[in-house]
Formats: sequence, structure tokens, C-alpha cells
Amino acid sequence: MKNSITMIDNRTNESYEFNIINATKGPSVVDISTFYKETGMFTYDPGFTSTASCKSDITFIDGDKGKLTYRGVEISELASKHSYMEVCYLLLNSKFPSKEESEDLDLELRHRGFLHEGLMNLFRAFPSNAHPMATLSSATSALSSFYYDHLDIEHEEEYQEMARRIIAKIPTIAAFAYRHSIGAPFIQPDIDRGFTENFLYMLRAYPGGKMHRNANGEDHIREIEVKALDTIFTLHADHEQNASTTTVRNVASTGAHPYVAISAGISALWGRAHGGANESVINQLKMIGSVDNVDAFIARAKDPDDDFRLMGFGHRVYKNFDPRAKALKGLQDQLKDELHLDSGLMQIASRIEEIALNDEYFIKRKLYPNIDFYSGVILTALKIPTSMFTPIFVIGRTVGWITQWIELKKDHKAKIARPRQLYLGK
Ligand code: CMC
Repeated sequence: MKNSITMIDNRTNESYEFNIINATKGPSVVDISTFYKETGMFTYDPGFTSTASCKSDITFIDGDKGKLTYRGVEISELASKHSYMEVCYLLLNSKFPSKEESEDLDLELRHRGFLHEGLMNLFRAFPSNAHPMATLSSATSALSSFYYDHLDIEHEEEYQEMARRIIAKIPTIAAFAYRHSIGAPFIQPDIDRGFTENFLYMLRAYPGGKMHRNANGEDHIREIEVKALDTIFTLHADHEQNASTTTVRNVASTGAHPYVAISAGISALWGRAHGGANESVINQLKMIGSVDNVDAFIARAKDPDDDFRLMGFGHRVYKNFDPRAKALKGLQDQLKDELHLDSGLMQIASRIEEIALNDEYFIKRKLYPNIDFYSGVILTALKIPTSMFTPIFVIGRTVGWITQWIELKKDHKAKIARPRQLYLGK
């Protein structure tokens, strides 16, 4: 049996044969790279619903079964048994770190978290009410002016160093963007705190770096909060060729600087159909306001003449429960009492979930809760301001973007991303 597909042009009866490339998991692909040369036509797939844009061995999603793996390891296992630091190492190196390697990475990221003093002027140039995502995207792009000589890197060691630098600096940029947005002085990273704790510290500390302590003299940052946020970072760490990752790869394919590529990814993530959904979910839950109003909003979501969408529901790839949402729901139940999760918001969210999962409209379209449906309630309990929800997604996803950037860079057959069009003009 030939591993190929034959297409017949019914207008001319001419037939064309295209090879099938087998996937190790999930759908195989038809190699149509010679389609135009052979047929004189383009293929048309707006939104890339049936197009594989690259080969990859990083992340795999089985959307029908609701499964997700990074480097072959199930997301539920990563979220429950491994730290975000270990997950970063796994994504970058295709293996788990030893204890020593994990500690080395942690230490290096602490040292690399500081920003060049020159960047401070940039933060100050933004209006004080700027959304942190706007500042975060611009300041990340500006990193390319401080590390311009890293454009021509070619070796594994250099890639890895570049990756560690950007992973370390993004949380500081995000925290500074937030502090600027509330007119608070910047808090430099604390070398004695690990990656996730440091981020909370940079958000919460008083000017000069002092922390509020409770009546027992305990630090304002609780271990349980660090663990919860660390898990949230893990659940966001990579997600194959989503819109922002595709953006990163597209920009990178031109040979542009990696910081610029990641800045473009941050911008793509901001939209409410993508990472911006986490902020929209919580705003929507607040707008719904009470369990009694849920039915009316569900009716709006189902109305074809109303643009209203239930935020945190639906996904291009998952036609089953998003496994990241499942993990977050578990975390939510676990933290309910200890972190005093907002029971009002949780009740509204539960009611929406209950109705939607049993409603013909959602069942027929296979619309399930996604990761953004649950993250907001937990982030609120961690006292993360709503405007920082999408930057939290950015912090978690940076490792995925840079891992995908490295994969593209190492693919010597990779071409510039240059789709064609169906021209319908004059
Ligand atoms: N509420 C109501 N109806 C919906 C929703 C929703 N959230 N999502 C999809 N639909 C309907 C849509 O109206 C369409 O109905 P019909 O077939 O009658 O026209 C059908 O379901 C298919 O929708 P689509 O827009 O063609 O699906 P898509 O794969 O292009 O879009 C999506 C996926 C995530 C953009 C979309 O489901 C959506 O807008 N969801 C809300 C935003 C959201 O939660 N985004 C976060 C995604 S997860 C985080 C991440 O990884 O980015």
C-alpha cells in the first residue's frame, strides 16, 4: 500500500499524488509543499483548521480525548508531581533535571531576573493607566536593543542561555509593568527567593522591599500560594501551535530577534479569544453577578444574533474537557478553604458549568470549559490583580515560546512563513 493520497481535478480528470507523513501520535499529514508547483492552485484553510504548519516533538494534544503532554509526559502528572522549574527544564532539554540541575537552573534564573537600568526609562514613558500587557509586550521587544549581539547565535549552549535569560526576565518585566500601572515604585527581584515566590514578592512588597507580616510574624507570601501559582505556570507552559506560538514562529522564520518574536507572541496572546480570555472570564462572572442571572447569559451565548460568548468555554482543538481546566478545577477544590476562594464567583462559575455541560447547544458544538474558566478564581484568591491575569499566562508560556523558537532555529529546512491568498479583488 502506498503511503500517499491521490487528488483528481474533476474539471480535467488530471490526478495528483501527495505523500502522507505519518505522525507518531495524532493525525498524519498530507505533504502538500509541492501542491502549487504541481497543480497551479493554492489550498484554502482560513484559521488553519486543517493545516500543520511545522514538525514538532515538544507538545502533543489529543483534543478528542482531552489529553495534553509535554515531551511525552501527561499534564496531570506534571502539575501534581513536578515544579515549574522542572517543567521548564523538561521542555528545554527533553528530560527531567536531576536535583542538582534543577537547583542550578533555579539559581541562575534568580541571578538573571534583574533588568538593565536603561529599561527603567522605558517603563516610565508609559501612561500610568497603561494595561500591563501593553507595557510587557513593548519592554520585551526592547530587550532586543540590549542583547542585539545575540541575533546570530547558532549553538545549543547559546540557545539555552538565551532561553534562560528571557524566562528569568519576563516576570520582572511583568511585575514592573504592573507597579507602573498603579504608580508604585519598582521592586527589584530578591536573590533569596525562587522564581515563583519572587514574582509574588515583586508584585506585593512595599517600597524598599519590606513585606507585610501577619500577627504570627509569618511572611505575607504563603507556601500554598507559591505552590498554586507554580502549578498555574506549569499548566500554561506550552500548547503546541496555538495563535501566539504560531506568531512567535512566523516572526522567528524571518530571522528577526527572538525577543521581538516573543514580544509579538505576547501581543497575539492578549486577545480575548486566546490568553486574554482569563481576564474576560472574571469580568464576565462579575458582570453576571448572581446565580439567578446565569440563565439569561446562557441564553445570550446561544443566540446567533448576539455576539456575546461565554468566556472560558470552547477551544479550537479540545472537543472534550480541557485537561488543564480539569487540573485547575481540582486545584480550586483543594484550595477552596485555605485560600478563601470567592464563593460567590465560584457559585456562578459552577452554575454556568452545570448548565452548559447539559445544554444541547454546548453539547452539539462540543464546548467545554477551558483553562481560562478556572484560573481567574484562583488568581483572585492569590490577590493577583485582574489586569495581571494575562501577564501570568505570558510568564508561564514564555518557556514554551522559546522552546518552539529553538526548535525552529535548529530546523535547517525551515522556510520563511509566507502564506498565499485567494484574491477576489479587481
Ligand atoms: N460561547 C458560545 N458559543 C461559542 C463559544 C462560546 N464561548 N465558543 C464557540 N461557540 C460557538 C460558535 O458560535 C460557533 O457556533 P456556530 O457553529 O453555530 O456558528 C461554534 O461554537 C464554533 O465556534 P468557532 O468560533 O468556529 O470555534 P473556533 O475553534 O474558531 O474558536 C475559540 C475557538 C476558543 C476562539 C472560541 O471557542 C471562543 O471564542 N471561546 C471564548 C474565548 C475563550 O475562552 N478563549 C480561550 C481559549 S483557551 C486558552 C488558550 O489556549 O488560548
